[in-house]
Parts: sequence; structure tokens; C-alpha cells
Amino acid sequence: MSIKKAIFPVAGLGTRFLPATKVIPKEMLPIVDKPIIQYATEEAINAGVDELIFVISESKKSILHHYGDAEVLNQELIEKQKHDLLEIVSDIIPAGIKLKYVEQHKALGLGHAVLCAREQVGKEPFAVILPDDMIDDDEHGCLSQMVKIFNEHNSSIIAVENVNPSDTDKYGIVSTEYLTEHVSRMLDIVEKPDPELAPSTLAVVGRYILTPEIFDLLENLGKGAGGEIQLTDAIKKLLNHQSVHTYQFHGRRYDCGSKLGYIKAKLNYALKHPEVKAGLLEHLQSGEVKNN
Ligand code: G1P
Repeated sequence: MSIKKAIFPVAGLGTRFLPATKVIPKEMLPIVDKPIIQYATEEAINAGVDELIFVISESKKSILHHYGDAEVLNQELIEKQKHDLLEIVSDIIPAGIKLKYVEQHKALGLGHAVLCAREQVGKEPFAVILPDDMIDDDEHGCLSQMVKIFNEHNSSIIAVENVNPSDTDKYGIVSTEYLTEHVSRMLDIVEKPDPELAPSTLAVVGRYILTPEIFDLLENLGKGAGGEIQLTDAIKKLLNHQSVHTYQFHGRRYDCGSKLGYIKAKLNYALKHPEVKAGLLEHLQSGEVKNN
């Protein structure tokens, strides 16, 4: 079975990047020449998703414009015979991909954001991608890897990786039963536990494949950690009804929700970009980059 729909919760305020994000959503910040959100939608499309569901807030309308028609720009590029640029712009959304937008009026948490997309998803398994977590696997993308695991287990699949013990309070943390090198059965999950209370150092990163039963659980959920409606709490409840598997993906994750992670991601993708790679390497090795 393939996963056809992906939710992108992008209603957050992005306060960690102020003032840059006063007008521009953090998901629209560029990594070389593409906004963060486009890496996420490309990963979904590579995994076979053909319906992208954005959960946005009023202030995130520029995301909508990024994926919308650009008639004036297209016309200008045609007139100037800039066919290569025209292709870059039309490649943002390949033919046949459907786009949906749902508004999340209040920032009530990730669980609430996912619930906002219930009607669009319906009764089929779906993906959730948090664009802040960029994952570079040099191949088809983390979600493609997860779709394979989903087809083997026919259950919800949650991407995880080991983090520093002192960082457990930044993530959903799981305890698991070992199945194979990369796949485990989830036993428990807790949102942002203090290091001394964390059941492990295996942290949830921003990729989920979820069965639609999660929606009823989200619907009846109270506020959790941080006073928000937490997806983690609904996954914990799901464990009472279904198996859930965790997947330790191949690839490197960049936390673009933090300044340092964002800069590391920029460097990573720039060092792979044919236009800037050589020049950037030369600059880095020239001794011009000093620790002031
Ligand atoms: C969210 C989830 C958390 C997960 C994290 C991954 O937290 O609630 O369980 O580990 O994403 O990035 P947030 O970063 O939105 O606070």
C-alpha cells in the first residue's frame, strides 16, 4: 500500500529566527536556493505522496504563494527565453500533485495541527513531515525509507534517532523492543522528559506515518506537555489498540528549528550544490574563516 497524503504542520511562529521571521515564515528561509519547505515537499513526492496538505496560520500565506501559480514571473521568463529558470519554477510542484490548505487558527500544538487536517486525510494511513527537521540521506529521502517499513509492518512508523542524554527534554522519547537493526516495536513514548526521567535516548524526529485511528484519539485528548495538544500523547494511546514501530533511518538530520542546525544544513547542501561547492570549499580552506 502506498502513502498518498502528507501533512505539513507549518503554523508555528518561528520566534527563534526573529527578526528574519517577522514577515517571512521560517519554512520559507532558504537553504542555498530553495526554501526549507520545498525540501520537505520534494521528499514526500519522492516517496509517492501525491497530495500535500499544509496546516498554516494566517501569517503563513507566502507558503501558499510559493506553491501557487506565478503567471507574471512565468510570462517574463518566457519573454526573456529563460527556459532553465522557467523549469526550476515549474518543478516546485510537478504535474499531478494536489495541494490543500487548512488553517490552524490557534497554535495549540502539533497534535492539534494534525487533527486540523482530519477531513482532508479521511480514513487512510498518511505521513506527517515537520519541515524543520531536514534529513539528507543522499538517496530517495527518509520518507521513502519509511514507506518500505510501513509496507512490511502495516502499522504506524515513527522515525527516531539517538540524541545526547541531556537533550531528551527537546523531543518525544520512546522505549522500544528490538526487532532488527533499524526497526523496533514501540513500548512507550513520552513528550520532552527531563533527562533523569527519560526512558531512553531514542528521540522522535519529524517524520511519521500514522494510521487514521490516531484522529479519534487526538479528538479526545487534553493538553499535555507545555500546555499543548501533543501528537506524542495520541501515539501513546494508539499503543493500546495497535502496534507502532520505530525506525532508525539512514541519513543525517539537521534541526533547522535552531540557528546552528540551520547553518549546518546550509553548509551541507551548499557543499553539494554544483554552482557553489567549489567556491565554498576554497573559502573554507583558505584560512579566511577564522574564529573571532
Ligand atoms: C515535536 C514533537 C516531538 C518531536 C519533535 C521532532 O516537538 O512534539 O515529539 O520529537 O517535534 O522535531 P517540537 O520540536 O515541535 O517542540
